[in-house]
Amino acid sequence: MDSSISTIAVVGAGQMGQGIAQVAAMSGYAVILMDQSGDALAGAQKATERSLNKLVAKERIAAELKDAALSRISTTTELADLADADLVVEAIVENGAIKKEIFATLDGLLGDHAILASNTSSISITELAASTSRPDRFIGMHFMNPVPIMKLVEVIKGLATSDETTAAIQAVADKMGKTTVYSEDSPGFLVNRILMPMINEAVVALHEGVGSVEDIDTAMKLGTNQPMGPLTLADFIGLDTCLAIMEVLHTNLGDSKYRPCPLLRNYVAAGWLGRKAGRGFYTYD
Ligand code: CAA
Ligand code: NAD
Repeated sequence: MDSSISTIAVVGAGQMGQGIAQVAAMSGYAVILMDQSGDALAGAQKATERSLNKLVAKERIAAELKDAALSRISTTTELADLADADLVVEAIVENGAIKKEIFATLDGLLGDHAILASNTSSISITELAASTSRPDRFIGMHFMNPVPIMKLVEVIKGLATSDETTAAIQAVADKMGKTTVYSEDSPGFLVNRILMPMINEAVVALHEGVGSVEDIDTAMKLGTNQPMGPLTLADFIGLDTCLAIMEVLHTNLGDSKYRPCPLLRNYVAAGWLGRKAGRGFYTYD
């Protein structure tokens, strides 16, 4: 088991960081949730309470677990407060340069034993690991959205990731009740290599006038039994994240089939980032 990991820090308190912190706390870990934005931390606190209330109401967890989980999460806007963490899971924006800066800083702060993990959707783990002096203790730990509900964690070993690090992350995922799959360190790994071109193609179909937003989503929802149509799912993930993933696939695989749809670019340029921005392919309260 992962006896060496008792404190997990999560960097980024957006939709993914919030969910990862919640699941870690529900699994008994002490959690420090960090974001540069105090508003994001306050939003994450509310989202965690909402989610835990839902899980209690549906009798998926006991009321005592809700209180215990909430009491295990502390928050901060300072990276320095993460110095004692045994594992840091990074979940900030899908931007390699910003992630590398954070990892280089964390590398200088943390104890030698600590493991760095990235929740990146698509960026090379080997490249991110190279921004630190501990590429053997660096790994991809890719959760799915919404984290408390989705069962999968995709694990990605970088070129230098050690077997000990992989085993420790497998143990954490086990303790969280997640099922793991292993992917090579290839752009988009498994899930987004397959999912994101489908979402991008749905935007292309919209752009070319093949169908309306509603009909594209209904076609895929009822026609292929997906819980959400691809445009609803894109809004749910965040259009900025979808575009960033397509850029990584296009740049690194070099095939024109991964070209991000111009309409997707326009929506991101307009700030219509989906559910989190109140507007994407749909509008939200
Ligand atoms: N916390 C607790 N419970 C939650 C929750 C949360 N954050 N979000 C949803 N739920 C629960 C609901 O309470 C409900 O519980 P029951 O099944 O017991 O009734 C259940 O989930 C379904 O909820 P709803 O019927 O109200 O539907 P919803 O609109 O809330 O959506 C959904 C539920 C689970 C999100 C479902 O629509 C779904 O599976 N969508 C597809 C999600 C998906 O594909 N995720 C992967 C995206 S790709 C990714 O994550 C990788 C990447 O890098 C981009
Ligand atoms: P988000 O936009 O909801 O949240 C990102 C958070 O990071 C924000 O709260 C922001 O304030 C914070 N942040 C940005 N720069 C920071 C910095 N330098 N220091 C500290 N905090 C900083 O994004 P998200 O959807 O939670 O995605 C986060 C990561 O998870 C991305 O790498 C994304 O690709 C990945 N991911 C997303 C999904 C999804 O469905 N949205 C699923 C799996 C993985």
